[in-house]
Amino acid sequence: MIEMATGLWVALVFGVVPLAGCLFWNWNDIRYALPHYHRSSEGGGMLPPGYMGIPFLGEMLAFIWYFKIVRRPNDYITSKLRRYGSDGGLYRTHLFGSPSIIVCPPSAIKFVLQSDSNFLPEWPAPELVGVNALVSVEGDSHARVRNFVLRCINKPDALRRIALMVQPRVTASLKSWAQKGRILVHKEAKKVTFGNIGKFFAGFESDPVLDTLDELFKGLMNGIRSQPINFPGTAYHHAFECRNKAMAIFRQEMEKRRENASDARDDLMEGLMQMKDEQGKHLSDVEILDNIVSLVLAGYASTSLAIMWTLYYLGKYPDVVEKLQEEHVPISKRLNGESITYDDVSTCKYSSKVVEEVLRMANISAFIFRTARKDVEYKGYKIPKGWKVLCWIRYTHENPEIFEDPTDFNPERWNKPAKPGTFLVFGGGSRICPGNMLARLQVSIIIHHLVVGYRWKLVNPDAGMAYLPYPKPVDDVEIDITKI
Ligand code: HEM
Repeated sequence: MIEMATGLWVALVFGVVPLAGCLFWNWNDIRYALPHYHRSSEGGGMLPPGYMGIPFLGEMLAFIWYFKIVRRPNDYITSKLRRYGSDGGLYRTHLFGSPSIIVCPPSAIKFVLQSDSNFLPEWPAPELVGVNALVSVEGDSHARVRNFVLRCINKPDALRRIALMVQPRVTASLKSWAQKGRILVHKEAKKVTFGNIGKFFAGFESDPVLDTLDELFKGLMNGIRSQPINFPGTAYHHAFECRNKAMAIFRQEMEKRRENASDARDDLMEGLMQMKDEQGKHLSDVEILDNIVSLVLAGYASTSLAIMWTLYYLGKYPDVVEKLQEEHVPISKRLNGESITYDDVSTCKYSSKVVEEVLRMANISAFIFRTARKDVEYKGYKIPKGWKVLCWIRYTHENPEIFEDPTDFNPERWNKPAKPGTFLVFGGGSRICPGNMLARLQVSIIIHHLVVGYRWKLVNPDAGMAYLPYPKPVDDVEIDITKI
């Protein structure tokens, strides 16, 4: 009897438990990858190397470990390079609830971003972002709306108008920062960016409307990042309510303009209302509203982060500030209190290198998501239909083989342009960010007013970094700022 019980224990300890552990540990590889090994013998490429993790969570725990706990996000990829080699630069995994392929080499990222017929864009929660918005539509509808939006926010004429429109708020904000003395840049940058977006997107200037919209967009943003459970009390449900209220405010403004032509303004809403395509067709109301909401969402957080990182790096590198002053003080003297124009900004060569370097180092979008529409083969590797593709652009920007001494903030590296396909801050292909010139312009304008009129110091120059949901110093960049 005792012998039998011992035998059972031995079988349990040396047989069943390790087997169950092994199954648990490799569950996702067995479930998702194994069927493709079988099919790979029939051609169509092999799955990239990698590990797909445990049931449900996949590799999320490792991802959180590197991004949130030890805060060394690049080690997530380097651990894969060490284990599986860097030859292909493609790795299979299971992240954010889906079997996925991580893509690292710029050439492979280019392949993905430029193959619209193979890969579908993947913005989270299109029902919240707007199903008719540029980010959600495809094919001809995408090209048509994109054309509208580019004309409104990315062409020199539009940027000339926007440059003048945003400056009163920028100068007033900097003045108020200096009056406060100590500020959290991230918080203040969000205020100034939202105020400006409200103004040049829909002509809103009054603080109560902007404050209401700001709250609504915060709720909307939280819902986009939450579990999609539409039940009263959830962040997702609240986001729908916020979206409906924000849409109602924009719709009211649109109707006011239609009823009274004298309410027409020189802003994005007006541009979208007036524009016609080649067949003379206007955008529908819902297309206009969905696009405004989605553009605020896409432009608001990203631009405020870019502004925050600019103050951070310039706070760390006073020699860069001196060089910027050499460029901007003569312009400021010539302008004698007038606003800097888009054409002035375009002549500031050193500043544009600083902007590119801030954007490279900030890595505001760590990766770009796509989904494979069908089985796709790339250099002998298979990307199965329905799997997510994560173009890991932050790896490119921090790869020493691509950018020498990548952790150095060195605007001079932009004396020569980056190698083709390696500067991926704004993505690439048909979905490359249509707000890229607008974001650069806003950062350049802030740089101008800061370096000619203010002196600032980081309160916590050695503050740690957070990387989720986006990279930022944990102190939100606290600074002491005074007028020169
Ligand atoms: C520093 C600031 C910004 C960064 C880092 C950034 C980054 C990106 C990236 C990486 C993409 C490509 C996404 C993809 O291919 O799936 C993208 C697309 C997009 N961005 Fe930006 N962006 C910034 C500012 C803005 C601004 C200011 C706006 C508008 C006001 C904007 C609007 C959009 C839109 C609408 C798309 C989707 C384009 C399409 O699907 O055709 N972004 N952005």
